[in-house]
Amino acid sequence: MNTNETHILNTEIIGMAPLEEPARQEFFMDKCHELIEDFIIRRGKAPSFFVSTFGCQMNAHDSEKLIGILEKIGYTEADEEKNADFVIYNTCTVRENANQKLYGHLGSLKKRKQEDSDMMIGICGCMMQQPEIVEYIKESYRFVDLVFGTFNFYKLAELLYRRLSGEEKQVIEVLAAPEKNVENLPEKRKFNFKSGVNIMYGCNNFCTYCIVPYVRGRERSRTPEDILCEINRLVEEGCVEIMLLGQNVNSYGVNFLEDSDIIKANPEYDFPDLLNDVCKIEGLKRVRFMTSHPKDLSDKLIDVIAENPKIARQIHLPVQSGSSRILKAMNRKYTKEDYLALVDRIRAKLPDVSLTTDIMVGFPGETEEDIQDTIDVVKYAKYDQSFTFIYSIRTGTPAAKMEQLSEDFVNNNFNKVLEVVRETCAETSARFAGQTKEVLVEGLNDHMEGYVTGRMDNNILVHFPGGEELIGKFVDVMLDEAKGFYYIGHVVETSK
Ligand code: 5AD
Ligand code: SF4
Repeated sequence: MNTNETHILNTEIIGMAPLEEPARQEFFMDKCHELIEDFIIRRGKAPSFFVSTFGCQMNAHDSEKLIGILEKIGYTEADEEKNADFVIYNTCTVRENANQKLYGHLGSLKKRKQEDSDMMIGICGCMMQQPEIVEYIKESYRFVDLVFGTFNFYKLAELLYRRLSGEEKQVIEVLAAPEKNVENLPEKRKFNFKSGVNIMYGCNNFCTYCIVPYVRGRERSRTPEDILCEINRLVEEGCVEIMLLGQNVNSYGVNFLEDSDIIKANPEYDFPDLLNDVCKIEGLKRVRFMTSHPKDLSDKLIDVIAENPKIARQIHLPVQSGSSRILKAMNRKYTKEDYLALVDRIRAKLPDVSLTTDIMVGFPGETEEDIQDTIDVVKYAKYDQSFTFIYSIRTGTPAAKMEQLSEDFVNNNFNKVLEVVRETCAETSARFAGQTKEVLVEGLNDHMEGYVTGRMDNNILVHFPGGEELIGKFVDVMLDEAKGFYYIGHVVETSK
């Protein structure tokens, strides 16, 4: 077959594809399935894939969708990246070191790609939403087969078809804004007993340091109907714990993706209403959510958590800084005092709640006094866990244009904050020692033979003697020993 014929054939096939989704992607999954037949005949096995995920829970959940599509096509999951015929990096760009990691990986794959003409590399996710990065990949990493972004990852099969059909050596498609919302594509969940569920996409907050609003677009909420339908299906399949996902779940409902009868009947429907409805689903035992922006966390939400035992007693409440001056420069829209008052309101109604946070050190203009404010907040809020980051300059954000601090000064401040964080978190998270807590068992312990590992509702890990039969079950565990950020315990009685 000459190239011209291939061209006609491919364009014809693409022209035959249904226009509506998800039918269009299902069509391309079938077409890709036909194209990998050749690989199977030549190599005597189905091609394998490995998806490497960087960054947050959102990305992890997107990867489950990519894996669902690949398995539907007929790919099998490789145990390690080095054994995979198709390697996909689902990238993060929230901090610069995530970018560097990707380039390191790509460099090391070049040789494999030269030795094996079947090998394919795909890159997707937040980093690909930056045009200068896509340009750089086009120029410096010509061997990359597939590049796509956050708004069209549901099109994996279609893009893969264009590459597999041989016409294009590098398929690049990145959209500047979301085109459509596609529901009901296959997804392969990492765990069958717990799952993330997107309730909204994007962010409207434009914190001055943050790239997320630029790479994930404006806030779009899924309808309650779509969310509840997905959770019902997950529960029918054996899921007992759900994590509702959004960059800022407390502004759920600002802008819906589709028409909704529930919203028509109640235009005020908000995140606490959604949580209430989710909790009504029979068979669902534990509900988590993330992330909450402190400026939007309402008293109504605190009340709904207090009234619903299914909702985990954990709130991730990123403070970023304890200094009102820096918070203003960050465009966070709350002050130190607002934040501490919120902590008080939460603790008054949820005395056993675990608060977790994100802290950033080194934002432009931050002084030692500002750092002291951050330390004050850490001590006052008594977090169970804190993710502490060094500010990373992101091109295109307002903070990138501000005068930056010296590396030494920032590192020094970072170490100061980290020390207090470590001390207070270890002390706070140890407060349950000697109590019996319900734990959802997640898997066998990798390091201790005969032990399993699970999570309490406040997300703290517990390791205790047990076997495979406990995975996916809730058990009551006596927390014998606090080890800083985890516990060692023993089963008291299987409760559910
Ligand atoms: N530099 C460092 N950390 C950042 N984060 C977001 N943007 C940056 C940045 N430019 C952190 C914030 C956020 C978390 C997900 O990542 O703390 O809450
Ligand atoms: Fe970034 Fe702020 Fe949006 Fe969080 S709320 S994703 S930190 S812009």
